[in-house]
Order: sequence, then structure tokens, then C-alpha cells
Amino acid sequence: MSSDTTGRRTEPAPSEEGKRDDDADPSELPLPPYPPNLGHPRLHFLHQMRDVFEFGEQALATRDVVRSHLPGEGDVFSLAHPEHVKRVLLTERETFRKSDDFRIAFGEGLLTVEGEEWAAQRDVLQPLFTRDSVMDYADGMVEQVRRRSDRWADGDRLELQSELTDMTLDVLFATVLGRELALDGDERIRRAAEALHDWFVPTSYLLPDWVPTPARRRFRKGKATLQAEADRLLEEKAGGAPTDPAEAEDLLSLLVGLRESGVADSGMLTDERLRDQMVTIIFAGHDTTTTSLTFAFWALANNPGVRERFHAEVDALDGPPTMDDLDELPVTDRVVTETLRLYPPVYSLPRRSTEPTAFDGYRIPADSRIILALRHVHRDPRFFEAPDSFRPSRWDGDLRGELHDFAYAPFGGGPRICIGREFALLEAKLALATIGREYDLYWLGDNDADGEPPISPEMTLRMTPGQEFLVTERE
Ligand code: HEM
Repeated sequence: MSSDTTGRRTEPAPSEEGKRDDDADPSELPLPPYPPNLGHPRLHFLHQMRDVFEFGEQALATRDVVRSHLPGEGDVFSLAHPEHVKRVLLTERETFRKSDDFRIAFGEGLLTVEGEEWAAQRDVLQPLFTRDSVMDYADGMVEQVRRRSDRWADGDRLELQSELTDMTLDVLFATVLGRELALDGDERIRRAAEALHDWFVPTSYLLPDWVPTPARRRFRKGKATLQAEADRLLEEKAGGAPTDPAEAEDLLSLLVGLRESGVADSGMLTDERLRDQMVTIIFAGHDTTTTSLTFAFWALANNPGVRERFHAEVDALDGPPTMDDLDELPVTDRVVTETLRLYPPVYSLPRRSTEPTAFDGYRIPADSRIILALRHVHRDPRFFEAPDSFRPSRWDGDLRGELHDFAYAPFGGGPRICIGREFALLEAKLALATIGREYDLYWLGDNDADGEPPISPEMTLRMTPGQEFLVTERE
């Protein structure tokens, strides 16, 4: 087996031949080994707490299926080949369900429900999230980005990630809920949105769900605050929402209008469901977009050649970007694509097996926790040349057409692919272009020996808090 300098495998992807083992009766197959280079399984959790990516790199260095140990859970199976991702998300999706953590946390929103309930919810929401539909939010997005970034001044040292956290919440509230947040206020709402991630702090994995840890209490309080806000807005819109979808300026008004005009299955649009849906969307659409923008600005600051091409492109626009300019922004588009490859906000996807199954000739028992190691797949030298380098130009040709269709999956895949994909891509491109026309952002933090920024993998990938950028106004 050949390997590159990172120790990862470099031989071509396994062929159909390699897959044949998986048709065997799983009970006759061995379990995948624990990674021999990571010590006793009881130490796995400590390794992961120290550096979850380093753990993954080492664990998956020589195979695409490994078993590790998590206290309170037992064996966990990580999968790191695009074909495995495809089987779990698409071709064999009936054998895998979402893990319970999300449902306990978020109730009956689209992210968590399964089966017919999921299909009915997705039917109602899907048309509102198509590329054409989200274009209606373009001007509102740019307005929110400008409202906040207009306050930056030459020489400011910005904690960019927290500024972008506020900005993406401004955008979500304005476009989804139709409520403009105060730039320096609404702290209760901002804290509540952040607290949604406290459900998933690593220490909670060790304790049963009913133990009221401080993080879980923060989560419950935050969720209750956002539910109350959604209820208040629902009451405000009841009876007054436009029944013509073209007139609705935000998603919630659109949904209330659909309910009142009787167009959609009203069982999917009860107050309770809409409330869960709004909290789900705030959770799913907030940190993910913040992360992609933060790492995009970091990547631009660290790659002067790309930054120059990006500035030339956005300078050529007549003014702040509009939806009509999107085709004129190929460099910006590729910066976003490449950022999501190197720093996928959802860096791993959890699932649970519903019956015994097999990958690469190894058995995975029923009811096992499965992790799809998306970040690892995105940096696999079998699929990407110089996989750790930020090279937006790699997407200039037909790389997408040539790649395995699950080798690049920042939004997941199959029927449960991210419904907010077009919304997120539109927001990321417009925000980058709006800010890039006005400012240069210089990185003041320290990268590590491999040129990587300081990262804290929480529920989503995040930059370690406290990293600063220097703002320079452009001529
Ligand atoms: C760069 C930004 C984003 C990334 C990387 C991202 C990533 C993902 C991924 C990987 C999934 C699949 C989860 C799974 O299969 O378990 C997902 C699902 C979902 N995302 Fe996103 N997301 C982003 C932005 C958004 C936005 C802006 C919204 C809403 C406005 C959103 C709403 C959702 C919802 C509701 C689901 C569940 C879909 C379903 O199960 O049918 N996401 N997202």
C-alpha cells in the first residue's frame, strides 16, 4: 500500500470488486479492528477530547472503516470512503436512521423527524428553499450585511467570528422570521441562539439525558426563549400574513399565508410545528453559515494570489452585489466551494444502524453509532490533489463531474441533503462580495506548523474564539 507524507492511503478508490465482501452474511464477518496506533480503547475518548481531527487522521490512516470506543455509548464505527457515504445517505438509507440526540433536543422539526412525517414536512418546505425562491432574500441579505459591516473602520481589530455570528443571525431573523434584530441589542435572543449548541458539548455524551448539567440548562433556557419569540411572531402574523406567496417578505409569513390560504397540508403548519421548525432552522442555519464565512475570510487573508483575484472580481461590480451579479462572481463562488471542502462546518454526520450491515468486509452490528467522516473524505489524496491546500482554481474545470458524487458533500446527500443549501450559498457569496468590496481583512492570529488556523471542533467546526483580523478600508 502506498501512502503520501501524511500517512494516508494514496491508491485508487476500491472498485466494485472491493464491495463484493459486503454482500456476505454480516454475522460471518469480523468487526473492524480498533486502530492499533491509538492505544487501549478506553483511552480513545481522551485522545478525541485532545484533538478530534488528529484522532480521526490516525484512526483512518490505513482503512476506511474503523471502530473506536466512547464511554456511555460503546463501539462507534467511522466510515471514510465516498462509496460508504453514498450507501448510508442514499442507496441503503433505510438501514440507517438519524441518532436520537437531535430529536430529544429539537422535537419535531425537519432536521430530526423520520419517515412519513419527514416526507410531509419536506414537501411543504422544499419549494420555499429552491434556488429561485431564495433569490427573493438576496436584497435583504445584503442589507443586513451592510448594516453591520458599515460600522467597521480602518484599523479596527475584529474578533471576526463573533461579529459574523451576529451578522448571520441578523440575516436569519430578517429573512426567516421577518424581525430585524437590534445591532447592539437583543442580547437575550443572541445568547439563546448560541445556547442551542450547548446540547452537544462532549461531556454530555458521558451522562444520561436526564442529568441537568449546566450546559443542558443553558440549552433548555435558550430553546424556550426562541420558542417564545417564535410564538410571539406567529401571533403577530396570524390573520395578517399575505395569502399571495409573492407578497410575503419572510419565510414565516409565507408559511402562515400557506396555512391560511389552505394550499398546503395544514397539519404540517400548526403553531406547534411551525415553532419547532423555526428553532430548527435557527440551529441548522446559524453557526454553519458563520463558520463558512469565517474560514473563507481566513483563507483569503492567507492566500494573497486568490485574494487579489477575488478583489478584482468584486471591484468590477457596479455597486453592492445583487442577485443579477451572481454569474459575474466565479472566483467568489469557488472560494466558497473550496472553503466548504477544507473546513466543512458539519465535519461529521452521525447515524444509527437499524440492522446488521457490512463495509469493506467488516461487520457493523444493528443499533450501532456510525460517523460519516466528511472532513476526512474531503481531504483524501485519492480524490483531491494536494488535498490540504486551499486552491479554489481546482474547481475551474469539470472536477465536480469527474469526482465520485459523494467525495464532496458539505451539505450531506440523498433525500435528506441540506434544505438550506441554496440559501447558505447565496448568503455566503453575497456577504463575501459585499464585505470584499469595502474591506481587506488581515489575519492577526497564528497558524500552526501545517499552516492551519486554530480550530475548536464543537457541534460545528469553529475557529478557536478570540482570533482577530485587522480591518483595512479599501480605496
Ligand atoms: C454552509 C452552511 C450549511 C451547511 C454546511 C449545512 C449542512 C447540512 C448538512 C450536512 C445537513 C444534513 C444533515 C444530515 O444528513 O444528518 C443539513 C441538513 C439541514 N440543514 Fe443545513 N447546512 C447549512 C446551512 C443551512 C441553512 C442556512 C439552513 C436553513 C435556512 C439549513 C437547514 C437545514 C435543515 C432544516 C436540514 C435538515 C434537512 C432534512 O433532514 O430534510 N442549513 N445541513
